[in-house]
Amino acid sequence: MAQVILKDVVKNYGDVYAVNHVSLTVEDGEFVALVGPSGCGKTTTLNLVAGLIPMSGGTVSIGDRDVTDLDPKDRDIAMVFQNYALYPQKSVYKNLAFPLQMRKLPKEEIDKRVQAAAKTLDIVHLLERKPRELSGGQQQRVALGRALVREPRAFLMDEPLSNLDAKLRVQMRSEIKRFHQDLNATIIYVTHDQLEAVTMSDKMAVMNGGFLQQYDSPANVFANPVNMFVASFVGSPAMSLVPLTAASKDGRVVLTGPEGWEMPLSDANGRKALSAKSSKVVLGGRHSTIKVHKSQVPGSVPGKVYTVEPTGDVTFAQVFVSGAVVNVSVAPTFQLRPDEPVFLEFDQDRMHLFDGETEMALRLQ
Ligand SMILES: Nc1ncnc2c1ncn2[C@@H]1O[C@H](COP(=O)(O)OP(=O)(O)OP(=O)(O)O)[C@@H](O)[C@H]1O
Ligand SMILES: [Mg+2]
Repeated sequence: MAQVILKDVVKNYGDVYAVNHVSLTVEDGEFVALVGPSGCGKTTTLNLVAGLIPMSGGTVSIGDRDVTDLDPKDRDIAMVFQNYALYPQKSVYKNLAFPLQMRKLPKEEIDKRVQAAAKTLDIVHLLERKPRELSGGQQQRVALGRALVREPRAFLMDEPLSNLDAKLRVQMRSEIKRFHQDLNATIIYVTHDQLEAVTMSDKMAVMNGGFLQQYDSPANVFANPVNMFVASFVGSPAMSLVPLTAASKDGRVVLTGPEGWEMPLSDANGRKALSAKSSKVVLGGRHSTIKVHKSQVPGSVPGKVYTVEPTGDVTFAQVFVSGAVVNVSVAPTFQLRPDEPVFLEFDQDRMHLFDGETEMALRLQ
């Protein structure tokens, strides 16, 4: 397998920049998820790596070769798409063998590779069947096998699981992860599902509007999102964002709501808040870091329950705070009613603060 390097990659269609100066290094053997909302440029990025569309600027290298000007077939990569289109008339064996026959490999070599791929993917017992005699998950494994027999330098996958039902998707998710671990494969995996990205990848590349927003391990992206977009895209339920005003009061920094309440900040958070371009600061909190109280405790902020969603293990609720919706979670035994007044206590060590003007995370210098 090989390293894949994108340098300053651009793809524009007239004024529309589908991919805007993206630079990214995927290390040898790494599983990288390209993730972001619909239309953010994921598929275009993948197609540029594959060489399926011409680039407007930048370079792509695979291994130690600059492949920018090479045809897709000369790039030594394998693609797995959402529509994996197996040949319906051919057996599984022949589906796997076909790409190798096209390359005129000797029969024994073809058989060796097909058997090895079938073994890795646990489809040896299915080799004589036709695709219509397989379940969705088995078909997906055959599609992976067809990529695998080519012994590519990297795998590119574009939403390969999106045609499967929810349960099978979760199962195939672990299988692809296992496939990656067993083969030590370099994989670039496109998904719009942040949970898929978080659970499967070594690193995630979060895109929005053609720009790469953040490229880091899922844990770091989750813990230290660089801006409000990433903060609200990664995690479920989403991180809540409440626009507030920072002010200094009696030697401390406080966040104030439009209704006049004040929330004193720790020293570290106070310094972050004061580093914003203006007094506009956005408070971010994940549900797991917010305590819900029925009466005021020091530092808590007033809100009003909007919806209550019991899930069995945990009850989620949405609470209005100064016009913003805040997602919280409580134990199923904790009774909450719509329209009930509550007080939210944000954990000072785990809260996030963003610059209200630039939407960038505020960090200690
Ligand atoms: N051939 C084309 N001509 C013009 N615009 C295009 C073309 N292909 C893609 N685009 C635009 O480029 C942007 C990125 O498209 P892309 O297919 O890469 O998005 P995506 O992130 O894969 O989205 P999805 O999650 O919906 O698959 C979109 O705004 C799209 O409309
Ligand atoms: Mg796409």
